[in-house]
Amino acid sequence: DITVYVENEAGERIAVPVPTDMGLSLMEALKANEFDIMATCGGMALCATCHVELIEAPELPEASDDEMYMLENLPNLTDGSRLSCQIKVTPELDGTVLRLMANH
Ligand code: FES
Repeated sequence: DITVYVENEAGERIAVPVPTDMGLSLMEALKANEFDIMATCGGMALCATCHVELIEAPELPEASDDEMYMLENLPNLTDGSRLSCQIKVTPELDGTVLRLMANH
């Protein structure tokens, strides 16, 4: 397993254990840890309720055109914005720090 950290509004980092051998997306891993992510579209890059800001992260595969299109239309887009459903959990993600960005 790896550990990713979710930073809350107080700046505290909550450690989240994530298995790397289940083919999960980052969205699925966060949901499985009871974070409040609606993921209305079920991981199809169509709803942006899984929007996260990566604060510290390894080099990741670039966002697809579909993901970029969704991100560009968000009012709270940041340099680190990604749709967490489009990020596959891999061992390289160990130590990643992120914020949950979706308003719902
Ligand atoms: Fe809908 Fe990621 S779950 S865009």
